[in-house]
Amino acid sequence: MILVTGSAGFIGANFVLNWCAQRDETVVSLDKLTYAGNLENLATLKGNPRHLFVQGDIGDAELVAGLLAQYRPRAVVNFAAESHVDRSIHGPEDFIQTNIVGTFHLLEAVRSYWSGLADTEKADFRFLHVSTDEVYGSLAKDEPAFSETHRYEPNSPYSASKAASDHLVRAYHHTYGLPVLTTNCSNNYGPYHFPEKLIPLMIVNALAGRKLPVYGDGQQIRDWLYVVDHCSAIRCVLEKGRPGEVYNVGGWNEKANLDIVHTVCDLLDELRPLPASQSSILDPQSSSYRSLITFVADRPGHDRRYAIDARKIERELGWKPAETFETGIRKTVQWYLDNQDWVNNVLSGNYRQWIEKNYSERA
Ligand code: NAD
Ligand code: DAU
Repeated sequence: MILVTGSAGFIGANFVLNWCAQRDETVVSLDKLTYAGNLENLATLKGNPRHLFVQGDIGDAELVAGLLAQYRPRAVVNFAAESHVDRSIHGPEDFIQTNIVGTFHLLEAVRSYWSGLADTEKADFRFLHVSTDEVYGSLAKDEPAFSETHRYEPNSPYSASKAASDHLVRAYHHTYGLPVLTTNCSNNYGPYHFPEKLIPLMIVNALAGRKLPVYGDGQQIRDWLYVVDHCSAIRCVLEKGRPGEVYNVGGWNEKANLDIVHTVCDLLDELRPLPASQSSILDPQSSSYRSLITFVADRPGHDRRYAIDARKIERELGWKPAETFETGIRKTVQWYLDNQDWVNNVLSGNYRQWIEKNYSERA
């Protein structure tokens, strides 16, 4: 069996759902259920004997040691993290606590468990750490995409905390021989994405007839990957990756934020045309969701461009994304239209407080 942390969040939940749909191997899920963790993401696994959910913190060494001793996993896949850049700017402490201190405690518990394994189990064991392209910092327009040897230059408290966790993971391999794998992935999008992040926020706001807040000039570039492709990349690295190696994962889909928002609006215009009663918020003449776009104050320290060079994982492990941006974003918008109950349930009081805090001073 495998232990997956952060399994009730966006990518972790997609990973566990895909895993259980494709494999017979049991998954033990560990998640603290912060504001970003949502058991509804795993609702379709209810009653599935191959999935066991445990609520808890990766920083709780005793709990993690107990789970490792009880279930004896052949691998740990670590998704657990505080993941939102804007939240890290408003309040960095949780990021330090989970992403750095939490990862440290998790590594210690795993090291202790792994040290006690028999030789073959020890050699076969893997600790896969899921990280981000943001650790490499920001690229100028014409600079080559991030390769695995690009210097680390994190710019936000979030990316700095992820960078620190990557270094700890690397050190546990170098010093103790723990068989670790690290993946650094670009921006994901798809089902179960929490609507504090760009794409789901735009879909949810548009459907409610609210403004679509674009930071700065909207020309910042991200490299988008459909979440199911990220999950297949992680499975591939887990099976075939060489211990101690880093694999960059990306979709070869560099897009400016404003173009992303236009695409979302155009898809909604096609799939769920704006009701006449909502078209008047910003432009009474317009019947397009694009009329809701508003430019707001930029994110402090905003990285201009990310781009991933994903040639190593393709060359060495044979992984390539299956979706184009056009197919993935259509599936995503359709998923939000088909899952309005999920959306309504996450728009709780806490969510509204965050939106107020992040956007009220940007007008
Ligand atoms: P998310 O915020 O949607 O989910 C994070 C999950 O971790 C939540 O379920 C939360 O409850 C859980 N969690 C938080 N602190 C915890 C703790 N101390 N102990 C146990 N569980 C805890 O994040 P996501 O977008 O699914 O990202 C998952 C991982 O992938 C993160 O490590 C992130 O850095 C990385 N990543 C994300 C993206 C992206 O575009 N979203 C891209 C590359 C890498
Ligand atoms: O690159 C991988 C990273 O992608 C992950 O490590 C992070 O966990 C994930 O959150 C994401 O980080 P970003 O900061 O790129 O994602 P976010 O969706 O917050 O923002 C994407 C871009 O859109 C960014 O340039 C900021 C901009 N933006 C975002 C929001 C929420 C807006 O213009 N308006 C908004 O309201």
